[in-house]
Amino acid sequence: MTKKVLMIVGSIRKDSFNKTVAKYIADNLKQDGIETEFANISKLPFMDQDIEFPAPKEVTAFHDQVKETDALWIVSPEYNEMIPGVLKNALDWLSRPTEMGVFGAPKFIMNKPVILSGAGGKKAATVGLSHLLSLTKFMGLTPSENVVGLQIPTAAFMSGHFDMDDDQKQKLQMQISEVDHLFG
Ligand SMILES: Cc1cc2nc3c(=O)[nH]c(=O)nc-3n(C[C@H](O)[C@H](O)[C@H](O)COP(=O)(O)O)c2cc1C
Repeated sequence: MTKKVLMIVGSIRKDSFNKTVAKYIADNLKQDGIETEFANISKLPFMDQDIEFPAPKEVTAFHDQVKETDALWIVSPEYNEMIPGVLKNALDWLSRPTEMGVFGAPKFIMNKPVILSGAGGKKAATVGLSHLLSLTKFMGLTPSENVVGLQIPTAAFMSGHFDMDDDQKQKLQMQISEVDHLFG
């Protein structure tokens, strides 16, 4: 059966460089016969235990998307060397049950493979990505240790367009080639 990967982008900016990276990954996965879908984390409410049950419809939809995919691929910048709030919020919702009286993280996230990539400034988002690696492990997901951070060149910040160089594409290709292996 065709495998499916859910892409989660840690920036909700319209012209996000990380979205550009995620689209490159998705296009290449498609060429390998792997389906992709993008999560819309911008519509999730702020985590608030007062509104957890019944789960807001956006939360249920996000949980369903994760449940129906074989792996997650998170592509994110770092904000102040941390996970951007919008992404942390999405992962916090994902770590919680959607039904009252059910405790612990949802079973469907346990051991789900996750691949982590990101693009940022001088440190190539690597500090934020290391937090993301710890967080996804803590949640019970199974992140690949091959985390790829890409440095956004100054020219991209000036033009608003991020054209990855061959070396950056090759790093992503290495991750893409590991996807089949992650499905087990
Ligand atoms: C609140 C905030 C904090 C940031 N902190 C960092 C940082 O710690 N390291 C870094 O490399 N870039 C940082 N940046 C710059 C982002 O890397 C840059 O804006 C990048 O374009 C964001 O990714 P996007 O293009 O996918 O939206 C920060 C940007 C914002 C808005």
